[in-house]
Amino acid sequence: MKNIQILAISGSLRVNSANTNILKSIGEMTDDSVDFQIFEGLDTFPHFNPGVDMDNEKVALFRKKVKEADGVIFCTPEYAFGIPGVLKNALDWTVSTGEFNDKPVAAISASPLNTGGDKALASLILTLTALGTYKNEKSLLSIPNIKQKINGEGALTDSLLKKDLELILNNLLEQVKEKRGGIV
Ligand SMILES: Cc1cc2nc3c(=O)[nH]c(=O)nc-3n(C[C@H](O)[C@H](O)[C@H](O)COP(=O)(O)O)c2cc1C
Repeated sequence: MKNIQILAISGSLRVNSANTNILKSIGEMTDDSVDFQIFEGLDTFPHFNPGVDMDNEKVALFRKKVKEADGVIFCTPEYAFGIPGVLKNALDWTVSTGEFNDKPVAAISASPLNTGGDKALASLILTLTALGTYKNEKSLLSIPNIKQKINGEGALTDSLLKKDLELILNNLLEQVKEKRGGIV
């Protein structure tokens, strides 16, 4: 049986981003049955315009990677109570082509504030719902006070957070297995 393909998408372009580092930590939690890849290059996409959907190389690669993935996991900061523009832009490019339709997903927001980026997470969930993704109540995680849970090198220092990340990863993998008809 082919390995489970998980695509990870960070909403942050920042060097040493907490959100990207969380995805790296999740990748380290996977075993040999999972191929875990963090997508890079959201900032290279053109601005979404449904009137000019010609073959853009970067967008085409993104669509291909989403289509080929068994599951997609997001981790995003909140900017001005919403999701980062680059992330929304990338998702908009998949609305008409449907790569996310029925795709198992998990969504995480991490913030230095004690609100945990909950508004960005709520907004991301709305978009993921519009895209027809496959998720449940355990597919979502808001992480408050992230600076106290991760060190300068990006390593997790909070055991409860590690547990929460394992839970959301395992839930995503379960959903992928459900989609595969229970065959692992
Ligand atoms: C312009 C700007 C707006 C922000 N707005 C919010 C916000 O609305 N809510 C929030 O929780 N954090 C907000 N933040 C703080 C981000 O959550 C913080 O920069 C976070 O660490 C970015 O994630 P990263 O480490 O993955 O890059 C904002 C930061 C910037 C620079």
